[in-house]
Amino acid sequence: MIEHTNSSRRIIEMEMESSSNLGENRSYNVEDCKYTRRHKRKRKICMFILCAYMLFTITSTILNFTVFRPKRPTINLNSITLEDLAVSVDAARFKVNLNITMNGSVSVENHNRASFQYEDINPYIEYGGQEIGDVHIPAGKIGARTTTTMNFTLIIMANQISSNPNLFSDVVEKGMLQLTLYMKLKGKVKLNVLFKIKIKASSKCDLYLDIRNGTLANQSCHSKIKL
Ligand SMILES: *[C@@H]1O[C@H](CO)[C@@H](O)[C@H](O)[C@H]1NC(C)=O
Ligand SMILES: *[C@@H]1O[C@H](CO)[C@@H](O)[C@H](O)[C@H]1NC(C)=O
Ligand SMILES: *[C@@H]1O[C@H](CO)[C@@H](O)[C@H](O)[C@H]1NC(C)=O
Ligand SMILES: *[C@@H]1O[C@H](CO)[C@@H](O)[C@H](O)[C@H]1NC(C)=O
Ligand SMILES: *[C@@H]1O[C@H](CO)[C@@H](O)[C@H](O)[C@H]1NC(C)=O
Repeated sequence: MIEHTNSSRRIIEMEMESSSNLGENRSYNVEDCKYTRRHKRKRKICMFILCAYMLFTITSTILNFTVFRPKRPTINLNSITLEDLAVSVDAARFKVNLNITMNGSVSVENHNRASFQYEDINPYIEYGGQEIGDVHIPAGKIGARTTTTMNFTLIIMANQISSNPNLFSDVVEKGMLQLTLYMKLKGKVKLNVLFKIKIKASSKCDLYLDIRNGTLANQSCHSKIKL
């Protein structure tokens, strides 16, 4: 007897469940549409949802690139100074042992009315097309229309640079090292509640290190920006 009542109650519960499935307040979304193609009424609703969705996407994309058009953040090298230079020359073996420490200051400028979230920045230095040293600047966030400045110390160790065949003549004969500093900035600008736009910017600086008097001379930078 007890078992019987239990099972009949179960049936009632199942019916209630299935009737609530057919109820009006069932919500649809784009994902559901893939599975409900066979039913005519559902198909109409799905078509409507898809159209509305497409219209919304197109409109907001146009708005984002016109009205809310993102402005490009920039990355600049404010200054770079030579903190330490240690040179020893082994003239007999045409070998140079060279450690360089530089202090730099970088600024990231956000021109948007929204905050800018950037990924790690890893400025690095090349000599003769070969990377010889880098430094890590951790990711962060910059408020609307502000500029942040970050300081770094970049160390170039002798073993990273000594394999270059031009090093000896550059140091001993010319007394001048031509270095290139690269900085790449990647991040997102949150335009409004719904949209984030990815932005890339980069900057390249030519530096001339005068070995004789230990100065960094005539730096010139170029920035390249990508949306
Ligand atoms: C450069 O640094 C390395 C490691 O600290 C050291 O062994 C070497 O003597 C340094 N070279 C010079 C010229 O100071
Ligand atoms: C270079 O940076 C180091 C570490 O941040 C600091 O101790 C040193 O005073 C700086 N040197 C100059 C000349 O600013
Ligand atoms: C960066 O270094 C400059 C001096 O070179 C100093 O005035 C400034 O306060 C430093 N900024 C940070 C964030 O450490
Ligand atoms: C270092 O030497 C170069 C020429 O070799 C010169 O142009 C520069 O002014 C010198 N810098 C300093 C600080 O003496
Ligand atoms: C920087 O100085 C080096 C060596 O004096 C020279 O070859 C180069 O043309 C200079 N670059 C600029 C942009 O003035």
